Amino acid sequence: MVKPKINLFINFESTYIASIKNKLLLSSNSLQTKYRKQISKYEREGFYKILFSRRDVRSHFIKKDIPLATILRIINAAHHAPSVGYSQPWNFILIKEEKTRLKIKNSFLREHQKAIRLLENNKIKQNKYKSLKLEGILESNLNLCVTYDDTRFAPFIIGKTSIPETGIYSVCCAIQNLWLAARAEEIGMGWVSIISNRELKKILEIPKYIKPIAYLCLGYVSEFSQTPDLEKSKWLKRLALNEIIYLEKWGNQVRKNKVKLL
Ligand SMILES: Cc1cc2nc3c(=O)[nH]c(=O)nc-3n(C[C@H](O)[C@H](O)[C@H](O)COP(=O)(O)O)c2cc1C
Repeated sequence: MVKPKINLFINFESTYIASIKNKLLLSSNSLQTKYRKQISKYEREGFYKILFSRRDVRSHFIKKDIPLATILRIINAAHHAPSVGYSQPWNFILIKEEKTRLKIKNSFLREHQKAIRLLENNKIKQNKYKSLKLEGILESNLNLCVTYDDTRFAPFIIGKTSIPETGIYSVCCAIQNLWLAARAEEIGMGWVSIISNRELKKILEIPKYIKPIAYLCLGYVSEFSQTPDLEKSKWLKRLALNEIIYLEKWGNQVRKNKVKLL
């Protein structure tokens, strides 16, 4: 296979080796030792700051390369997510090449048109939907496809015997880790699901037995929105806590005044 002439990939081996040498980036043991101690109140604040300021980012990407060491740190954070039976069923495909991204973007445009047609009977909603920016495939610095391997360590995976979907849930846990780690590195990330998985598999030469779970766009940004874009554009708003919490039985809501936001 011809190696793509892109710095990211040319640098991959040397950065990978260097990161192993200094043991900071990829050694689970050294990371686990480093972060083993009790969480201080400042660290707790830092964690919540990252969590509440994380956004799905599709615009405001700036032209600045993400260093490979940073990419590896973020992927390593994803790789430390929980997984059913410790099956680690994920892979991460790094995509820099424009011609690949253009193919993905075309898939997005086709699927986007399909979604627009679904709103044919509601012109107001259709127009609003049309006005939304829902991907940053070409503008972002790096695209990342996260996949699920149902066969990894198969057939007996502890915890997956009754609920096979737990494999996919595990990949979603990794994606959330990745999202938060990206935010901690001041990198915006957007999830694009308005694409055809069939086309994605073909473009990225993903084998039949592997399932793409997420197509992600990452890059440094000029700003992080304070509120979700879909809230800002009045598409939907965040539900109140008392609407989503039930006591003891399904549907048994707590009264509004009993649930106070922190
Ligand atoms: C599984 C999944 C798929 C998503 N697909 C898209 C997408 O195709 N386009 C998009 O603009 N946002 C997508 N999003 C982002 C959501 O719209 C976003 O998370 C939500 O509006 C809340 O905003 P926030 O992430 O900034 O808090 C997706 C999010 C998830 C979890």
